[in-house]
Amino acid sequence: MPATVSYAIAHGRGHGPLLHTPHTVEPSDRTPAMKVMVTGTAGFIGNALAIRLLERGDEVLGVDNLNDYYDVQLKRDRLARISSHPGFRDARIDIEDLAAMTRVVKDFRPERVVNLAAQAGVRYSLTNPHAYISSNIQGFAEHLRSCAVITGSRT
Ligand SMILES: NC(=O)c1ccc[n+]([C@@H]2O[C@H](COP(=O)([O-])OP(=O)(O)OC[C@H]3O[C@@H](n4cnc5c(N)ncnc54)[C@H](O)[C@@H]3O)[C@@H](O)[C@H]2O)c1
Repeated sequence: MPATVSYAIAHGRGHGPLLHTPHTVEPSDRTPAMKVMVTGTAGFIGNALAIRLLERGDEVLGVDNLNDYYDVQLKRDRLARISSHPGFRDARIDIEDLAAMTRVVKDFRPERVVNLAAQAGVRYSLTNPHAYISSNIQGFAEHLRSCAVITGSRT
């Protein structure tokens, strides 16, 4: 039976996994470490993904605007779990800000991008539909445009 590898790495507060769940990966399944840009890193899903990526040895550029759709302290607490990790870089920007997004993309040069910055929820869309158009449509479009600097289809 092939040996399993546990990706417990140092993260500034001692050694060990960032999450407390057992986390083993077969060596044959392991891709080389990558540079991954994750938006929505202070959010529920984006933060959990960033933790997993850091645990397996990837570098993560986290983007979030820390909006006040819900408790901002909860978002800060999530970021605090990863902010001192040597593989983590934090960018406090709005994905709709094309100039700022382009700057960080040019600087970090991600190999993979995961867009989880979003206006989530269903009921709030009845109160504030613009928030959804703004983050989920306009923001996503600007995010894609910012990434085009990597492929050279935009400068
Ligand atoms: N939570 C779930 O169970 C679930 C299930 C299915 C799909 N999803 C989807 O996953 C995505 C993330 O959901 P979540 O639950 O993590 O939401 P969340 O609200 O916890 O996280 C979203 C994060 O994005 C940030 N953000 C929002 N707009 C931004 C902008 N314009 N620029 C930068 N940052 C911005 C917010 O500050 C927040 O930290 C959404 O698209 C959601 O629909 C979530």
